Amino acid sequence: MFAVVSENYDILNDLLSFGIHRKWKRKTVELSEVSEGQKILDCACGTGDLAIEFKKASGKNGIVIASDFCEDMLSLAAKKAKKNDISLNVVRADALNLPVESENFDSASIGFGIRNVEDRILCLREMARVVKKRGRVVILEFGNPGGIMKILYRIYSLFIPLLARLISGERQAYKYMTASIRRFPTGKDFVELMELANVFSSCRSHKLTFGIAYVYVGIVK
Ligand SMILES: C[S@@+](CC[C@H](N)C(=O)[O-])C[C@H]1O[C@@H](n2cnc3c(N)ncnc32)[C@H](O)[C@@H]1O
Repeated sequence: MFAVVSENYDILNDLLSFGIHRKWKRKTVELSEVSEGQKILDCACGTGDLAIEFKKASGKNGIVIASDFCEDMLSLAAKKAKKNDISLNVVRADALNLPVESENFDSASIGFGIRNVEDRILCLREMARVVKKRGRVVILEFGNPGGIMKILYRIYSLFIPLLARLISGERQAYKYMTASIRRFPTGKDFVELMELANVFSSCRSHKLTFGIAYVYVGIVK
C-alpha cells in the first residue's frame, strides 16, 4: 500500500493538510528538544520530511537515521535529502524489529507511522530500547477532534479518498487512512497505551490544530 502511494505522497500531504503537516513536523522536532550534534532515529520515515527537520535541528554534527520498511519511500527520502543538500542515513528497517543496538540514540521519532504497525506497544518498546536513558521518544499522529471540529473534520474526511483519487488515482489507501484514524486512540487514550508499554518515566500529549493531530512525548526510563 505504501509503495503504491509513495509517488504522490508528498503532493497529497501538502494538498490534503493545506501544508499544515509541515508545521506539525517542526513542532514534533521542537518537542523532542533535540540539540546540536545529537543522534536521532526516525522510524517509518516515508519520504523523509520529519528526518530532514531533525537533521536541520541537530546541525552538521548531528546524525539522523531515516528508516522505513518500504523501499520506494526510502528512495524518495534519499532523493529529497540529496536535492536539499541534507546528509541523511537512509536504512531499510521494520519499526517492530530495529536492527540497532540498545541505548544508541538521543531520540527516536515516528510520524504518522505508529497507527499502521501491527503491534503499537512493541513499536513503543523498540523505540525506547534504542534510545538512551532519559532520552525522548516522540510520536506524531492524527487525532480525533471534539466539539464542532469533530463534525467539520468528519465531513472533510469523507472527501479525502475522493480528493486523493482525483489527484493521484489512488482511493483505497486513503479510505484505509481515514478509517484507521477514526479507530486510533487519541490524547489520553494513547498516553495510556504508552504507560502500558512500561518503558517511559513520563508520557505527555500535546494537542495540535484543535486535536486533528497530536505529538506524544515519552521520556525513556
Ligand atoms: C503515512 S506514512 C508516514 C511517513 C512520514 N513519517 C511522514 O510523516 O510523512 C507511514 C509510513 O510508515 C511506514 N511503515 C508502516 N509500518 C512500518 C513498519 N512496521 N516498519 C517501518 N516502516 C513502517 C510506511 O512504509 C510508510 O512510509
